[in-house]
Amino acid sequence: CGIVGIVGTEPVAGRLLDALKRLEYRGYDSAGIATIHEGVMDRRRAAGKICNLEHCLDASPLKGTTGMGHTRWATHGVPNETNAHPHFVGAISIVHNGIIENFSELRRDLVADGACFETQTDTEVVAHLMARYREEGLEPKAAMLKLVGRLKGAYALAIMLKDHPGTMMAARSGPPLAVGHGKGEMFFGSDAIALAPFTDKITYLDDGDCAVISRDGVAIFDRAGTPVDRPRQVAQAGVSLIDKGNHRHFMEKEISEQPEAISHVLDRYIDFASGTVRTGNSAIDFGDVAGLAISACGTAFLAGSIGRYWFEQYAGLPVEIDVASEFRYRQIPMSRKQAAFFISQSGETADTLASLNYCRQRGLKIGAIVNVTDSTIARAADTVFPILAGPEIGVASTKAFTCQLTVLACLAIAAGKARGTIDAFQERALVGHLAEIPRIMSAVLNDIQAQTFALARQLTGCKSVLYIGRGTSYPLAMEGALKLKEISYIHAEGYAAGELKHGPIALIDEHMPVIVIAPHDQFFDKTVSNMQEAAARGGRIILITDEAGAKASPIIPAAQIVLPNVDEIIAPMIFALPVQMLAYHTAVIMGMDVDQPRNLAKSVTVE
Ligand code: G6P
Repeated sequence: CGIVGIVGTEPVAGRLLDALKRLEYRGYDSAGIATIHEGVMDRRRAAGKICNLEHCLDASPLKGTTGMGHTRWATHGVPNETNAHPHFVGAISIVHNGIIENFSELRRDLVADGACFETQTDTEVVAHLMARYREEGLEPKAAMLKLVGRLKGAYALAIMLKDHPGTMMAARSGPPLAVGHGKGEMFFGSDAIALAPFTDKITYLDDGDCAVISRDGVAIFDRAGTPVDRPRQVAQAGVSLIDKGNHRHFMEKEISEQPEAISHVLDRYIDFASGTVRTGNSAIDFGDVAGLAISACGTAFLAGSIGRYWFEQYAGLPVEIDVASEFRYRQIPMSRKQAAFFISQSGETADTLASLNYCRQRGLKIGAIVNVTDSTIARAADTVFPILAGPEIGVASTKAFTCQLTVLACLAIAAGKARGTIDAFQERALVGHLAEIPRIMSAVLNDIQAQTFALARQLTGCKSVLYIGRGTSYPLAMEGALKLKEISYIHAEGYAAGELKHGPIALIDEHMPVIVIAPHDQFFDKTVSNMQEAAARGGRIILITDEAGAKASPIIPAAQIVLPNVDEIIAPMIFALPVQMLAYHTAVIMGMDVDQPRNLAKSVTVE
């Protein structure tokens, strides 16, 4: 799931390993490095964590000033050493992210032609094809162009040739790939974070681009081989931003960064002097749209699901929302009068991008709510709404979630204003509430630390946990369940509190904690009734509420977390904190790999 390449003047193995460590956050299950030294191409690969690869390299170092590294998240073939990249065929070394969709037919042709395969991977097919074209006598560039002409699917590829040790080639169709410009050295990387210690001068390849780097620079061309110009940018990903600092895990650091991250969002989207929201020069005129379509995956989808309540409540806008992998196949009737929003921390999620393209073909105006503003999704949109969370490294999304929520709240207020469903007075009041988020979050983070830790101890022995809520607390309940299962591997489900009686109540007994998310809002009494239904069946109730809710609750739950009273528009951001911390502490107590949970990837560039 991560690529790095260096054509340098100093030995590269150590630096490749370093870069792979910085790519760890994207999720992977094996890793490898290859270099060329004095005409010999050699590699080390290992299943599991990068430290396994590091041990291989310690035992048997690699020399050379040109090399490539890869972290693999298995798609075709199990995550073992043989399937790990780089793949070698003849004088070719290849690393690949993505999926080659026509690999079976390519493989069949190659086998018929006498090729012998070592693995079941799609990547080995690419290596064989490239080797074949070189054997046919094609120059490296021509061979690569012929290669990409044969490939269907999504790929970011880096290719090293034993007989051209001073160059490296790359091609991109789907997953991102960046070129880094050093002094007398050049780099490829899946993102600017991988390359941060080497250089901050980055050129992002466009979809369909191929590139050749040498020590002197880069040549970029399109699929037809015509040279193209791509801008050189200064990357935002500073080295210090991607350091754990004093924290045990990135997730803990990112949870604690939320007050600050949200102040950045507020600075950008709110004019405090006039008490108004500002959305910049947007291509989307909320006053003129008939409805919204929202699509995203994972946590970003759940942020969108909360946003939906706001767009409906504050702007009277109908919202169609679905997970991206369903959205694009549902044949939802759409009109050009709708606007479509795509929410993605990474801006690279393949399903979300495919949904975006689907809406683009139907003529909708496209807004992207992203963290990485030079990502593919951002570049494909008409208007980008950055969430300004800073690099998020922990696989389980935390600060990106609350920043997405804050941006969505601002957009809903802007939409309400444009549509006349919110007047200046209401806008000022709502903006006033949003402005309080950082202060309240800081206080809450301090206050609930010990309490969530103690509660987490009770969750560690559980087989299954139920989260329930109504209104915006319903998607938050789903986010709570997602967080817990992602990092602690405890089964958890988020349910609409009112649906409890239509099924999940059958599961409830004294072993089943029911986490009730219930701010003292218009739904409180109804949610409390559902809580009582669960309590009556022996369910262990953990109530997350506010001071007013704690006072009004007719039962004393087994445990409760009491937050300050806040306005309903900021409740999801504040209530997200105990939800995140419960999951975090549970996973830490259970000794789980919090930042890189098994089987998960941070940036999922396959469909
Ligand atoms: C992966 C991550 C999730 C994330 C989802 C969407 O599954 O593990 O944490 O929410 O992708 O990612 P995106 O970058 O599009 O927000």
